[in-house]
Amino acid sequence: MENSYGIAPHGGTLVNRLLRGEARQAALERARELPRVFLSPMNVSDCELIAIGAFSPLTGFMTRADYESVVETMYLTNGLVWSIPITLPVDEEFAADIREGDEVALYEPDGGEGHLLGLMEVQEKFTYDKEREAREVYRTTEDAHPGVARIYAQGPVLLGGPITLVNRPLDQRFPEFRHDPVQTRRMFAQRGWRRVVAFQTRNPIHRAHEYIQKTALEVVDGLLLHPLVGETQPGDIPAEVRMQSYQAILRDYYPPDRVILGVFPAAMRYAGPREAIFHALCRKNYGCTYFIVGRDHAGVGNYYGTYDAQLIFDEFKPEEIGIMPLFFEHAFYCRKCGTVVTAKTCPHDSSEHVFLSGTQVRAMLARGEAPPPEFTRPEVAQILIEGYKLSNKECK
Ligand code: ADX
Repeated sequence: MENSYGIAPHGGTLVNRLLRGEARQAALERARELPRVFLSPMNVSDCELIAIGAFSPLTGFMTRADYESVVETMYLTNGLVWSIPITLPVDEEFAADIREGDEVALYEPDGGEGHLLGLMEVQEKFTYDKEREAREVYRTTEDAHPGVARIYAQGPVLLGGPITLVNRPLDQRFPEFRHDPVQTRRMFAQRGWRRVVAFQTRNPIHRAHEYIQKTALEVVDGLLLHPLVGETQPGDIPAEVRMQSYQAILRDYYPPDRVILGVFPAAMRYAGPREAIFHALCRKNYGCTYFIVGRDHAGVGNYYGTYDAQLIFDEFKPEEIGIMPLFFEHAFYCRKCGTVVTAKTCPHDSSEHVFLSGTQVRAMLARGEAPPPEFTRPEVAQILIEGYKLSNKECK
């Protein structure tokens, strides 16, 4: 039933690897006897995303052929586009005791015995070339890049094979905004939305974000505001603070019947262009038909060109992606126009434009100063300032 309305998931079928009832009971018992793999925060979130179908068509962590193919060509061996390797790295000692065909239990570290997440059939264990993955996926081999640093720090052996989930990860914050793809698809259908635009973000919504969301909303039925709440790098604003800020801006500035706020529990990779493709495919699985890609999507530092994450879509046929990207140029406030604009819509000199870098904004917030209302809605600024105060207190 779940697939009978809306846009088809990537590969045609929404994956469901959640065990229930007797199958779950049997898995819980089997898990007691199995070798335990303790997962990184990113892998914990990957398990949930695989199980709920957000990563359809993936049913587990990648085996060698898919891994190599994705790294080199951005396609799975079945011919579907997939731009980011989804892998389970382990250390050599652990790998030495595992044979292909074994079953293992996947655990989330919790400071004690661990929290059982699910089971995995290890179809393959294999070594891989970290530098090549860094170069191909992240376009750099520098460990100053957080995604590359993560690869260099992880184990040298990958376990590939299908997984099943018996328990959700421990982090179930924001329960009222946790909608699995099955649920968002149902919510869109209930509202009669046929054209739905998804917005990925790891930041608060500033005026530029609001502008591109609302510009898209003018021509579609609804917006899925889909902030990423999995692992991000330390400098990024914590998800709790962001979630408060999203609720505030939605309450005061958006029509409630046109927006759904839902969390995307994935970890940030900071892979720029490749991550834009990945983000788009995941949102197709959630049932969205359009996906916003603005300036330096999923970028970090100066590793990617401002519009590289848009240009990469040209490497594929539109039907291979299956969700329509909506590209936006760098948006900012123009005093003369009296509104948010881009170079495509504003003829005025840059002296009329309000530009603030991320660093400048962070410094202002840390000083307890609200960025100008042309940049950030005052209601949002207030929440961010409070968030900064709280995190400073916690650090002391
Ligand atoms: S991301 O890592 O999740 O992509 P961010 O939350 O900063 O980062 O951006 C969310 C989306 O808004 C991305 O598609 C990004 O390209 C876009 N974006 C951010 N700022 C601007 C801006 N000033 N103008 C146009 N697009 C922007």
